[in-house]
Amino acid sequence: MAADRGSAWHLLLSSLGLLVHLDATFSYLLKNCTSDRSLAGEVLDCSGRGLVTVPDDIPADACSVNLMCNLLGQINKKDFGKMSQLKILCLTDNHIAHVDDGSFVHMVSLTNLYMGQNNLTNLTANLLQGLSNLRLLDLRKNKIQFIHGSTFKFSSVLQTVLLDDNHLRQVADIIPVLQLPLLHRISVVCENWFSSSFQSEDFPANMSSSLKVLDMSSSNIDKFSITRRAFPHLQTIDLSLATLKWDIPDETSLRNIIRLHLSHTKLSFKEIQKVLQSTDSLVHLRLNSMDRWIKRGLMVTACRIPTLQVLELYYNHGPNLSAQLANCSHLRELDLSDTHMMLMPKGSIQSMKLLQNLKLKANFLKKVPDDIRSLSSLEILSVDSNSISELGCEDFRNTTRLTELYLSSNHITNLNWCTFESLTGLKILDLSLNQLWELGDVFQTGPQKLEFLYLNDNPLAILEKRSFKGLKCLKYLDVVTKTISRVTQRAFDGLNNLRALRVSFPCYFDSDFRHLQRLENLTLYFSVDGSFQSPPTNHHRAFFHLNSLKMFTFICSGFHHGMPFDVPMEQLQAMRHLEDFTAENAYISAPDPSTFQANPRLKRLTFGKTDLSDLDPELFRPIPDLQVLDLSNSQIKSLDFLKLVELPALTHLTLSNNEITVINETVFQSLPALVYLKLDNNPFTCDCSNAGFIQWVKNNNQTQVVNGYQLTCSFPVAEQGNRLLNFDIQSCWMDLSFLCFLCSTGLVTLTLLTSFIFHFLRWQLVYTFYLLLAFLYDSRKKKKGTAHLYDAFVSYNVHDEAWVYHEMLPVLEGEQGWRLCLHHRDFQPGRPIMENITDAIYGSRKTICVISRRYLQSEWCSREIQVASFRLFDEQKDVLVLLFLEDIPARQLSPFHRMRKLVKRRTYLSWPQAGRHHGVFWQNVRRALETGDAAADDRAELLTGPAGR
Ligand SMILES: *[C@@H]1O[C@H](CO)[C@@H](O)[C@H](O)[C@H]1NC(C)=O
Ligand SMILES: *[C@@H]1O[C@H](CO)[C@@H](O)[C@H](O)[C@H]1NC(C)=O
Ligand SMILES: *[C@@H]1O[C@H](CO)[C@@H](O)[C@H](O)[C@H]1NC(C)=O
Ligand SMILES: *[C@@H]1O[C@H](CO)[C@@H](O)[C@H](O)[C@H]1NC(C)=O
Ligand SMILES: *[C@@H]1O[C@H](CO)[C@@H](O)[C@H](O)[C@H]1NC(C)=O
Repeated sequence: MAADRGSAWHLLLSSLGLLVHLDATFSYLLKNCTSDRSLAGEVLDCSGRGLVTVPDDIPADACSVNLMCNLLGQINKKDFGKMSQLKILCLTDNHIAHVDDGSFVHMVSLTNLYMGQNNLTNLTANLLQGLSNLRLLDLRKNKIQFIHGSTFKFSSVLQTVLLDDNHLRQVADIIPVLQLPLLHRISVVCENWFSSSFQSEDFPANMSSSLKVLDMSSSNIDKFSITRRAFPHLQTIDLSLATLKWDIPDETSLRNIIRLHLSHTKLSFKEIQKVLQSTDSLVHLRLNSMDRWIKRGLMVTACRIPTLQVLELYYNHGPNLSAQLANCSHLRELDLSDTHMMLMPKGSIQSMKLLQNLKLKANFLKKVPDDIRSLSSLEILSVDSNSISELGCEDFRNTTRLTELYLSSNHITNLNWCTFESLTGLKILDLSLNQLWELGDVFQTGPQKLEFLYLNDNPLAILEKRSFKGLKCLKYLDVVTKTISRVTQRAFDGLNNLRALRVSFPCYFDSDFRHLQRLENLTLYFSVDGSFQSPPTNHHRAFFHLNSLKMFTFICSGFHHGMPFDVPMEQLQAMRHLEDFTAENAYISAPDPSTFQANPRLKRLTFGKTDLSDLDPELFRPIPDLQVLDLSNSQIKSLDFLKLVELPALTHLTLSNNEITVINETVFQSLPALVYLKLDNNPFTCDCSNAGFIQWVKNNNQTQVVNGYQLTCSFPVAEQGNRLLNFDIQSCWMDLSFLCFLCSTGLVTLTLLTSFIFHFLRWQLVYTFYLLLAFLYDSRKKKKGTAHLYDAFVSYNVHDEAWVYHEMLPVLEGEQGWRLCLHHRDFQPGRPIMENITDAIYGSRKTICVISRRYLQSEWCSREIQVASFRLFDEQKDVLVLLFLEDIPARQLSPFHRMRKLVKRRTYLSWPQAGRHHGVFWQNVRRALETGDAAADDRAELLTGPAGR
């Protein structure tokens, strides 16, 4: 029944040409993905959703698709049918065991294909068909045993092929890869067991691979041997964790090698020594976790490599490591992180006069090593995560070239004014996560070039005034800490170049940012506790000078006890360039509508944990450029406020964790640029009140409701937990549409009927109308009981006037003496003609109709007949006398339905048939006029013959 109505409805709509095409071919709402439209194009995230097939609603113009961590078992030909713009496809961590030939044939733009952690066994000849721009192919952690010789024929620009953790058995298996003309890097780490060997002899004699990086880490083979002939461009070899025997066929085979990673390798000491001795261009050597060999003196060999610049030795836990570095005086970079170092003996690295970068992270150093004082070319020093508790004035005395100093995560308690005195070139200083409880005068005079200072997460209690006076170049300062109890007024004086400040305040605020005129980003953290009081009335002065501020973030923690800690409009007045405003838990109720009056450039606005249930839409009036609006966690119940304001630039709207139950989709008309709408965690009502919204979510092709299919119902109870978009809105349309159906049907029927009647029954209709008129007139006349003024009313057409005046009048009026009524002569001027006619007919005993073809065509004449014939039936009186001036066949009378009937039934007189016997004709007329009023059919004998046939 419902279906019938539905289809009837559609039929009707289409027949009226009104059918709206509802099944848009492209809807922005995606069932199992989230879309992100960035400058680079559309990026789809469909990861971790338990998908067993590739979603069929991925837009054809997507540029990146992430299908990681799903349950895809195979790739079908149609899955990526039209995605010619796709650049990055990630299929990592699925169960893909099979890929249809030609599945990628349309993806001509694809550069990166990630298919690691799947179940592929064979790389077939046509697997990569179409991928002519592929640069990177990741096939790690599959079960690949076989690579077809032609697999790579379609992908001639492939540079990186990752085949780690597969089941390849012999080196010959990867020949198709090695022969790629632009191959840069191949990795065939772990489990691939090339049971026997990796030797240049195994490759075709004429092979000359373009390979630059060979990653054989974790491999486990008998013999490793490569020649310059087969790998003339090879620069990096990674044999970390490898168990193998390295055979060096000739002196020149390692000539070009620049980087060598031998961490954790199982090569014998002799072999490593030989390898290191054979290199003559090695720059970068990684020997992590090589304690065993270092103890045996490997460093002596390594340090002899004259070209060596970078040495990585982390995870070597042997006690005397640093003592072995004496000869490495030519190093530029040394990494001794995580080497269990408690103390660096004097002289260990003293000789490294060229050293620029030293990493000593994650050790147990109690102080900065003395040797550093003589490293006058040092630029970067990382001593994070050690146990340093104090910094002395001498520690950095000679490292005047230092630009970056990392001291995070130590136990430093205080700083001396002389500590960084000589670091005149220092740009970055990280002292976060230490035990500093005051700053003293350390930054009173410098370091003058310092740009970035991290002091966050120290137990600082007070920021004294002019704490940072000497940091004239500082651009970024982070002093966020939970322990702060006071920030003195003018604490930041002197930071004339500061661009970004992150700072905590205790529950009251009397600071002053008057010198921060170039500040662009300000993040304030307040902890509001029991002692919280309303801020001092003049506290807004603090912000008066922030003319350059673009980003203002204001985060309060704790309970307000009903006291607002907001930023009224006056405080924001100076911030004419403000683009980004965030307030979390700061306002206790919706901000005043005037708040952003002075910030017309605001683009991003976030209110979190704020009661916005009475938000005034006027708030948005001064900020028409708003692009991103986040009102999460704000007790919003309805979006109707959006109706009252136009936000033409808004693209992102987030309303997570609110109390929205029903949305009227028309509110989005005031957001014409909206692209993303986030509505998760709202208690939606799943009934017809949301039908319009549901339809909008599904069908609009501009705004994506992020994870729309995951929105759930909270009401009514029966729907609780169900998906909002699964609610059957058809049932809502049904009632409405059925109503429409009825209305329209009625309308259509009426239209059809009217045109039908007009077309076919016009005369009957007109006749009925006059019948009615006559009836009314008749009853009126009857009541009056008027006597007859005339013997006969003569109805004729003007064209027959001559006959009436010359033939008829002389006989009937002149000879026979009847009183006749002629409309030309006797009608009262000024009265409606219809009234005249009816008066004339009813005022006469008889009506003589002078019938000719023209008479029949004339509208008035036929009305006269009609009125008269009505009188005939109405009064049962024979009032009509028909005089035919012409012979008219019955066929031609047929449109004059009534007349035809009369002609058939009644008397009539024919002038032409009377021929020359006019006398007889007029006698017959006289008799007709003489007859009484009795209706009679018995005068057929008087007829001079039937008219026509
Ligand atoms: C994909 O989305 C559809 C539509 O909401 C849903 O029925 C299906 O369960 C989703 N698939 C997965 C694996 O989540
Ligand atoms: C991968 O394939 C093997 C057989 O080739 C099968 O036993 C295994 O279950 C598959 N693994 C997955 C995750 O599909
Ligand atoms: C993979 O290729 C090998 C060698 O051609 C063949 O023996 C094997 O049947 C193939 N396996 C599959 C699953 O196609
Ligand atoms: C600093 O360097 C100078 C010259 O290189 C040297 O004479 C002096 O001893 C060094 N100071 C320290 C503390 O090592
Ligand atoms: C301010 O913050 C924004 C967003 O975090 C960042 O992009 C911008 O570089 C920052 N500006 C400064 C001067 O630090």
